[in-house]
Amino acid sequence: MRTPNIAANWKMHKTVAEARTLVQAMVGDLQGLQEVECVLCPPFTALQAVAELVRGTGIAVGAQDMYWEEQGAFTGEISPLMVKELGQYVIIGHSERRQYFGETDETVNRKVHAALAHGLIPIVAVGENLAQNEAGETEAFVSGQVRRGLAGLSPEQARRIIVAYEPIWAIGTGRPATGTDANRIIGGVVRATLGEMFGRDVAEEIRIQYGGSVKPDNIAEFVSQPEIDGALVGGASLKAADFVAIVRTTAEVKGGSR
Ligand code: PGA
Repeated sequence: MRTPNIAANWKMHKTVAEARTLVQAMVGDLQGLQEVECVLCPPFTALQAVAELVRGTGIAVGAQDMYWEEQGAFTGEISPLMVKELGQYVIIGHSERRQYFGETDETVNRKVHAALAHGLIPIVAVGENLAQNEAGETEAFVSGQVRRGLAGLSPEQARRIIVAYEPIWAIGTGRPATGTDANRIIGGVVRATLGEMFGRDVAEEIRIQYGGSVKPDNIAEFVSQPEIDGALVGGASLKAADFVAIVRTTAEVKGGSR
C-alpha cells in the first residue's frame, strides 16, 4: 500500500511572518493525521521559519525548485545542500517553472538526479496544456515528459520519487479534471510509463499525486481513485482550514479503503 502524500505548494505567497501564522494555524490539526504524509513547500525565504515550526511534528518541508549544482557562481539559485539543511522534499518541473522560467525536461532531469543524490525526495510535476488536451495529445505528451524527466534513474532511485500529474488547464482555474480522467492518465499513462522504464513492481510503489484546483469539496473525488495517491495543492493550501480539511479527507478516504 502506498502511503498517501499531500503537498502544499504556496508558490510566491507568504512573507516569513505570514508563513509562521499559517503554519501555527494548522500544525496542531495536521499532527493528528499522521497516516497522510504532509509536505509544506513555502518560498525559499520562509523555509527556515517553517522548518523550525514543524520540527518534531512529522510534517515535512520542501522547496519549490532548486538548481542541480552544489555551489558556485549561479546567482540567485539554491543548491541541493541548501535545501537539505531545511527540508526533505523539492518540487521539480512545476508547469509555472517550465512556462515562465525556461525549465525543460532536460533541466528537470538534472535536478531530479541531484535531488536523489542528496537524499531529497523530488516531487516531479508533469501535465499537458489545454491545446494539447483538446488535440488528444495528452497521453503522448505526458508520457514523454515522464520518460525524459526521469531518464537514467535506477529502479532503486525511482522508487523514492513522487510524480504530480497537473494538467495545466486545471491549475488555479477552479476547473479541475474529473477524478476518473485524472485516474486514467495517472494509471494508464504515468504509472504505465514508469512501469516500462523501471519495471511494474517499482511503478506500483511510486506515489502519484493529482494537482489542479484541488479543494476541500473535491479532494475525495481524487483520492478515492485507486491510482491517485494524494495531491499537490496550490491555492487551497494557503488557508489553514482548507488544507487541513484536504488532509483529513485524504486520511479518511485512504484509511477507509485499506
Ligand atoms: P492550484 O495549484 O491548486 O491552485 O490549482 C496547484 C499547483 O500548481 O500545484
